[in-house]
Amino acid sequence: MSATKQFFPNTYRNFPSHGKITYQAPSNIALVKYWGKYGEQLPKNASISFTLDACHTQTKLHFKRKDSEDYRIEVQMDGKRVPNFEPKILKFFERIEPYMPFLKDYEFLVETSNSFPHSSGIASSASGMSALALCLLALEQQLLDQPYSEEEFKRKASFLARLGSGSAARSVEGPLVVWGMHEHIVGSSDLYGTKLPYSVHKIFGNFQDTILLVETGQKEVSSTVGHNLMHQHPYAETRFRQACDNLTKMIPVLKSGDLEAFIKIVENEALSLHAMMLTSDPAFILMKPNTLEIIHRIWSFRKETGSKLCFTLDAGANVHVLYPAKEKMAVQDFIDAELRQFCADGRLIHDQAGQGARLV
Ligand code: PMV
Repeated sequence: MSATKQFFPNTYRNFPSHGKITYQAPSNIALVKYWGKYGEQLPKNASISFTLDACHTQTKLHFKRKDSEDYRIEVQMDGKRVPNFEPKILKFFERIEPYMPFLKDYEFLVETSNSFPHSSGIASSASGMSALALCLLALEQQLLDQPYSEEEFKRKASFLARLGSGSAARSVEGPLVVWGMHEHIVGSSDLYGTKLPYSVHKIFGNFQDTILLVETGQKEVSSTVGHNLMHQHPYAETRFRQACDNLTKMIPVLKSGDLEAFIKIVENEALSLHAMMLTSDPAFILMKPNTLEIIHRIWSFRKETGSKLCFTLDAGANVHVLYPAKEKMAVQDFIDAELRQFCADGRLIHDQAGQGARLV
């Protein structure tokens, strides 16, 4: 409890009667993955991700003062009410209430939309929870006697977002965010994400990520189920150690721009994440034949051309192709010629490392 005490607000002074706040928050793609949690959304190992740019959620929070002692929350997506989202949002409000005791003093309308299609298989929980946490925190900022500093604001935003969805802790800042305590990363914490506090080679500032949509629609395994599989997993402890070691190796690689070492770590992480699912009980095979076809073609292209592209995967069949901006033309030509055919309806999204969330 003591560590989370810092997130209790100080005195509220002013209660605006109504208003609205809009934030845009990005999705992120992990390079070293988080898979396995404990306590209240705390990670079993530290992770690091690229913040994305094109894939984001925009959320407008309307608030109006009320007297009743209950929650009043309506959620709309793309202008339509989505009652099936409301229990998840309610649960989020209940979870964060100790840190935001004003929540029942207002009724809320949450209007949200994603830049990527709902059916794209890209999880919107990271960007969505981050955008909502930021809106709520911006409201709390108006209530406070002593407003948060910029640093405190970002930290609490990430802390709250994490309580909605673990990886959302990494969707406040950019371009590289660490979440989870790591002995070699100063200021890292299980409670919130922070910008990597070390110098990063300029090649990673605008690294490209083309997301190949192999399979669209609902995720086959919810992340809650996925994380829980790690509790009884025979390789769990080894996996947590491996992730920790990979992050240790990643720090100097991000500094030096050594792309060969980068590729090795990133692909090892992607395949290890899937190896955990392949060897869990029950087992899940989330890669599709087209996922494997894409991976083999990426390996062949790299071997033939010396390109420094690589792949990573989330808990699904889609493939993120990562490459330096200077290879943009060549890699995108290759993607169009060889990889697009393995995407559902030829669909893909070109994205790149981004700078984090912003007030709209
Ligand atoms: O934030 P969650 O609970 O949806 O978990 C995300 C897990 C992965 O996307 C597979 C890995 C990661 O670190 O983002």
